[in-house]
Amino acid sequence: MTIIRVAKREDLKEIVSLHKQAGESQGQLDPRLAPAASDSVRFGRVLEAMSGRRWCRVLVAEGDTELVGYAVGSRVDNEPFTTSRFGLVGGLYVEQGQRGRGTEDALLEALNGWFMEQGLAATHVDVSCSDPAAQRFWEDRGFDRFLDQLWWDGSSESYEPGDSPLVVRPARSGDREAVLLLWKEMMDVHSAIDPRLSIAPDWRQKVARSVRRWLRDGDSRFVVAEAADGVIGFALGGLVDVTLGLKPSMHGQVAHLCVGANWRRCGIGRRLFWALRDWLVERSVPSIHLYVSPVNPVSQHFWRALGFEDYISRLWCDLV
Ligand SMILES: CC(C)(COP(=O)(O)OP(=O)(O)OC[C@H]1O[C@@H](n2cnc3c(N)ncnc32)[C@H](O)[C@@H]1OP(=O)(O)O)[C@@H](O)C(=O)NCCC(=O)NCCS
Repeated sequence: MTIIRVAKREDLKEIVSLHKQAGESQGQLDPRLAPAASDSVRFGRVLEAMSGRRWCRVLVAEGDTELVGYAVGSRVDNEPFTTSRFGLVGGLYVEQGQRGRGTEDALLEALNGWFMEQGLAATHVDVSCSDPAAQRFWEDRGFDRFLDQLWWDGSSESYEPGDSPLVVRPARSGDREAVLLLWKEMMDVHSAIDPRLSIAPDWRQKVARSVRRWLRDGDSRFVVAEAADGVIGFALGGLVDVTLGLKPSMHGQVAHLCVGANWRRCGIGRRLFWALRDWLVERSVPSIHLYVSPVNPVSQHFWRALGFEDYISRLWCDLV
């Protein structure tokens, strides 16, 4: 018989071993997801730090003699979006020989139950684009494609913009208002095509606080494109150290990029991206990732024209 229960400290070693198996099978489908030697140690440390915390839950499926599966979930803040928090399934794995007996469903049900106790209305999970069986598993349980995480290895030669009266430069505090307007323009595009990307009425105060933080943050690159009559585009990128999920890794991330509607298709988006890319490559990131809506054809074309490829799908499921 298999029982589902909250993990105890003494389970950590077995969970880490299951996690290693999960990573190895992902790596067979997509070498970019193959575990590095240090991943198990990192995962073990994260689990230890998570243990007993109010914002996360680690569950195990216990068979007659040993653990046969685990699930990790955490509560993620998502302001200023209208869904201000969601539950993230950071891992769900059942040993190969134990599948098809309802253990995966029992783990997911227990995790969703915990998310609902936390007052969360939606769950997210990341699934490899190279794993159609996993995609089907989640789709059969009510999850659907929400964002595509694209991947770029950063290896192309630098981009030379040629002669242009426009400058791309680090953002300054005087750019705050222009950046807020561009950020809102970017979100208006997205909320019109996917209501899950709509923002709360008090977005301005929250984003203004974030902009102040981006201006100070040494782990971020925050740039603007300036024409003769002011700032007409901005981009934000940074270093991200992911500890949970399909592939723990340090990588570069593009968080935001927007060009004002009157200035599009003039190469400004490309220049803004290259300003982030050069900064990230100087910091030796092995790859650059970003999220893009599958129903935003313009940004899908844009990022793929710059060399980004499929990597991971972020799926969404409503809990209530
Ligand atoms: C996506 C966005 C940043 C592109 O900026 P841009 O300055 O217009 O892009 P560029 O002129 O540098 O385009 C570079 C390449 O991307 C592709 N591209 C850009 N816009 C495109 C469009 N509307 N349709 C098809 N391909 C497009 C083209 O291949 C283009 O190269 P080309 O002009 O030589 O053919 C801009 O449209 C924008 O800000 N959109 C709203 C906010 C947004 O969606 N941001 C992305 C969030 S993930």
